[in-house]
Amino acid sequence: MIKDLWYKNAIIYSLNVETFLDSNGDGTGDFEGLSRSLDYLQGLGVTCVWLAPFQKSPRRDDGYDISDYYQVDPIFGTLGDFVDFTHEAQQRGIRVMMDMVVNHTSDQHPWFQEARRDPASKYRDYYVWSDTKPRDAEDGIIFPGVQETTWTYDEQAGQFYFHRFHDFQPDLNTQNPRVLAEIRKIMGFYLELGVSGFRMDAMPFVIETKGPQPRHTQRYALLRDFREFLQWRSRDAIILAEANVEPKHNMRYFGDDGDRLQMMFNFWVNQHAFLSLATGDAGPLAQALDQSRDRPPNAQWGQFLRNHDELDLGRLRDSERQAVFDAMAPDECMQLYGRGIRRRLAPMLQGDPRRLELAYSLMFALPGTPVIRYGDELGMGDNLDLPGRECARTPMQWSPEANAGFTRAAKPVVPVLDHGPYSFSKINVADQRRDPGSLLNWTARMIRMRKEVPEIGWGEFQRVETGHPGVLALQYEWRGNIVLVVHNLTGTAAEVQVRIKGEQGRHLINLLTQDHSHANGRGHHRLIMEPYGYHWYRAGGLGHLLDRTPA
Ligand code: NOJ
Repeated sequence: MIKDLWYKNAIIYSLNVETFLDSNGDGTGDFEGLSRSLDYLQGLGVTCVWLAPFQKSPRRDDGYDISDYYQVDPIFGTLGDFVDFTHEAQQRGIRVMMDMVVNHTSDQHPWFQEARRDPASKYRDYYVWSDTKPRDAEDGIIFPGVQETTWTYDEQAGQFYFHRFHDFQPDLNTQNPRVLAEIRKIMGFYLELGVSGFRMDAMPFVIETKGPQPRHTQRYALLRDFREFLQWRSRDAIILAEANVEPKHNMRYFGDDGDRLQMMFNFWVNQHAFLSLATGDAGPLAQALDQSRDRPPNAQWGQFLRNHDELDLGRLRDSERQAVFDAMAPDECMQLYGRGIRRRLAPMLQGDPRRLELAYSLMFALPGTPVIRYGDELGMGDNLDLPGRECARTPMQWSPEANAGFTRAAKPVVPVLDHGPYSFSKINVADQRRDPGSLLNWTARMIRMRKEVPEIGWGEFQRVETGHPGVLALQYEWRGNIVLVVHNLTGTAAEVQVRIKGEQGRHLINLLTQDHSHANGRGHHRLIMEPYGYHWYRAGGLGHLLDRTPA
């Protein structure tokens, strides 16, 4: 395997320009502010930034409704500022990925305006139309309670148009070769401007056939087309797909020969990880890991805890979902769309530092590449007074100064969190930077260690029997080196026994504390796990840098 695949062991950090840092005092974050915060990200250890949509948009869905793919929204700056940012990031060894939202446009996009105005226009067929309202128009709604249908009548066009998401987000007709050519052109444009890849929004819907007919199929071959285009234009650019699918479909997305997507978010593991964190039973997570084990050697999972959307628990059984709700979002106002939780990670875990460390340590230890949500490195909270998903999208908390040091404006456009236990006066970068025991400094140390354990990104994992239902042990092996990570998901101390094969497995060197372990005569290690404890070990000693066998 070529060792250059950067995404196999990246540290991805997701943010929205709007809420990161405002340089010009207009109350909204911008690219200049983001450029200024690059030293912070570099210090944290981030190797790749994933930017939420920043192109011109009416912003009725936080920018996931684009009206001009080739313009930076003027509230964030200019294309020049964007290129300055990608350049400054590169200077620090940080790659930039961006959202690619091509399942739909904004209804304000000139393509849609033209399409609805003129049936003879070439843009008419850029979208999906029907003379009558299809019978399944109320099925497959993504935002129940907010969205009423997937087919809306357009007076001007005299037809219904299809929209998987809100009615202001008409779906693009990805069966039209011209639309595919537009998608390639947009990707090509941003590759030239220095991005290393795209987080592709709503991938299953991008590749699905669309139209009034009741049956639809997934056109997986498109995934290979996208990949080929990317690699022809920019050899190491990748796609990280948002595809919340069942494990049996994973390989269709990755491609049996690893010829489709390089990365996918592991939504399956994500939902089961929360179930395990909520119940203290490692079983669901262990099973989910086994179920999503298959992936080509050149592909990678994106492992995450929270993102900018609700925590979608739609793939759990009703009783399982309820267990997570009960533990982490007991009030209905914390839940969303009947399937998810709209809170940030810290309040879901009652702000308990032990549980936060456990959750993050687990994420760093899962097979794949970790994806961090901005502010989670501080334990930022949510503002449940804000509607829907907005509660978890408040500005970055830089300091205890006015408006969290996010803006000089008297009133930020998105309000900073200024009350309660997660207020910026209590949770902010400046204070945590000074405190060696802060979550921020802990996260930086964990990232540093995670980078020194490439076995996780490259190796195969194996589950190691612990004999305790609440303790998960994963072993990674790569180039003759063995790493063992053990997590106690319960709030009670636990004593477990593990066995690592071979002579190497007799000595476990703890990477975080002095608490090393030597096997007894039968080759067993007796590990004492603190409540919510996490241990990272290297087997055999720390000579792995010397020992590594060549590829
Ligand atoms: C998924 C994005 O993550 C979400 O925020 C957005 O609303 C929908 N796709 C529509 O683009």
